[in-house]
Amino acid sequence: MARAHWHFPRTALAEHYLNVFDVGISSHLAFIAPRRKGKTAFILQDLAPAAQQQGYLCVYASLWGDPNAPHESIVQALEQAIDACASESKIKRMLSSKVRKAAISNEMLGRVEVEFANNPKSAGTRDLTRIDDLVTQLEKAAKDRTILLLIDEIQHLATSDDFSGLAHSLRTLLDRRQGRVKSIYTGSSRHYMHLLMSTQSSPFYHFANLHRFPDLGEDFCAFLQNKMASEYGVAVAMGSLVKAFGDLDHSPYWMQRLVERLVTEKCPLREAMNYTLELLDAAEGFEETAKTMKPVDRLVFLELADNGNPFSRALLSRIEAQTSNKGIPGTVQRALARLMEASLVSQIKKGEYHIEKPGLRRYLEKQVGSAPSR
Ligand SMILES: Nc1ncnc2c1ncn2[C@@H]1O[C@H](COP(=O)(O)OP(=O)(O)OP(=O)(O)O)[C@@H](O)[C@H]1O
Ligand SMILES: [Mg+2]
Repeated sequence: MARAHWHFPRTALAEHYLNVFDVGISSHLAFIAPRRKGKTAFILQDLAPAAQQQGYLCVYASLWGDPNAPHESIVQALEQAIDACASESKIKRMLSSKVRKAAISNEMLGRVEVEFANNPKSAGTRDLTRIDDLVTQLEKAAKDRTILLLIDEIQHLATSDDFSGLAHSLRTLLDRRQGRVKSIYTGSSRHYMHLLMSTQSSPFYHFANLHRFPDLGEDFCAFLQNKMASEYGVAVAMGSLVKAFGDLDHSPYWMQRLVERLVTEKCPLREAMNYTLELLDAAEGFEETAKTMKPVDRLVFLELADNGNPFSRALLSRIEAQTSNKGIPGTVQRALARLMEASLVSQIKKGEYHIEKPGLRRYLEKQVGSAPSR
């Protein structure tokens, strides 16, 4: 199944964001959405082409390209852009090679551990000066085009103190150019995006206009339904497909795995769905995660998944009745600390908690009935 043909275009969304630049409200935007929601695909396959058409020169770098040395990814992206600048076809080739690379890393990227540097190296003064010099060179080479920096996984800068030099220097570099170089960022962890963009001591504090990257909707399901029917003779009812998309946490990545199964096996939707959910659970490591959760952690997590208040009297009584812990706020506080440490929950504002793994709720609920481990 050739993946490229399965891309559902989000042209209107791309134009909407580019309009924000035109109106002059902001020159720097940031999108947040959890993993595997289609941020990279959107940036590379919808936004960058639309921006190029409007006369921007796009530079794309993913900070996960080299998690230990994110500055290297930026240097490399700038060098490639300078090299490609001379011709439109070179620029197109550069972008399509990034699309291929992103698809490959999607297959390889597993769990949380690859999202963090295991041996972070801070950028030296020479590296930082080099980035500034490359941007200056690119500005010259770009002539009348505006440079648009597209930086994927920007929250990575907040995951280690070693990256703060790079964060400061990027901010200064962009400030000095006063909107002549624009930028768009994506982030897949609410917690670290919050640290980077909304914490006063961070160089990116209130720097970019933050947007929640919208989920794909029913039109995406209709697109898949049409393609499956016309190209593979596989008929699936629209309602069932929409429901499956919801059960797969509205992730286009898992939806594509489901479609792949449907067209290769020609099996019933339910069968393909069970298979895909198993893959999802394994990729997310839900079994291991669930094992490390204390019964009280599960109760608190499920309460948050229901948008409930983890300090409510009702939950405290359930904790008292169903676990060996005391049903008091301190117990909840400690459970929340463990859940945040494990990146299962993040705190956006004081007292406002969000779950980071919606699929874990389904997994935990499926387990209800079996004795919880401690
Ligand atoms: N518009 C789309 N149409 C069809 N499939 C899509 C679309 N967007 C994403 N996908 C599918 O979902 C997969 C994951 O998308 P993508 O890599 O863009 O997610 P992401 O949000 O960047 O995730 P991560 O945070 O893990 O990098 C893609 O490889 C593709 O198969
Ligand atoms: Mg991505």
